[in-house]
Parts: sequence; C-alpha cells; structure tokens
Amino acid sequence: MDRPHIAHVGVAVPDLDAALAFYRDVLGLSPLPAQEADGATLISLPFGESEVELLAPLGPDGPIARFLERRGPGIHHICYRVPNLDAALAACRGAGYRLVDEVPRIGAGGRRIAFVHPKATGGILLELTE
Ligand code: CO
Repeated sequence: MDRPHIAHVGVAVPDLDAALAFYRDVLGLSPLPAQEADGATLISLPFGESEVELLAPLGPDGPIARFLERRGPGIHHICYRVPNLDAALAACRGAGYRLVDEVPRIGAGGRRIAFVHPKATGGILLELTE
C-alpha cells in the first residue's frame, strides 16, 4: 500500500490472558500467534489493515515493564506504515526531530522499524515501518 496508514497500536498490558479475555472472548477478534520482541511478549489482533498489538513484559527490565511501572496499562506506541522508511527517517532527521533508532532495525514479524522520540510527536511514542 502506498498511502501511509496505521499499522498497529501497541497496548501495554500486565497480563495477556486478562487482555485476551476482552479482545478475543468479548470482541471476538482472532489473535495471531505470540511473538517476542524488545523484552515483551506480543500478540497482534488484526482490525482490517491495522492491528492492536498487546505487549506484556517478559521480565522486570524491558521497556514495556518500565512503561507499566511508570504509567500503568495503556497505549504504549502507535506505528505508522509509510511508503519509504529510510526517506521518512531522513525527513524527521532533516527537520531536527529526535529519533530513538537512528537507523532501521528488525522488529516483530521481521519488519524494518524505527522509533521516533515522543518529543517530535505530541507525546506519543511513534514507530515507523514500511
Ligand atoms: Co510496535
């Protein structure tokens, strides 16, 4: 797809089973198989072309564990799919915005991703993918 769109919304949860009791059992969504990334277990729930990505910490030290400790459960990040990740990062950098990942890295599902600092985005941790 050429047009940018929301790839997924990452939601930090302390307990995947409790979260699935709502998304799967109440809303009737079909979770994809669990993956591990960045110290968290991740379960994606497709919503059309977008997904809700449930993120639960694997241990006390990862970014999701720290987020839950500081802010409690909630939206952790939004991921936009852009036509060209390298061009999007270059544009962010050129405009003076701070990047969490200076160069793309491989995220869940083998996709190339990079995070942009929330200072650039109105307080939302932004993940870009293509
Ligand atoms: Co993500």
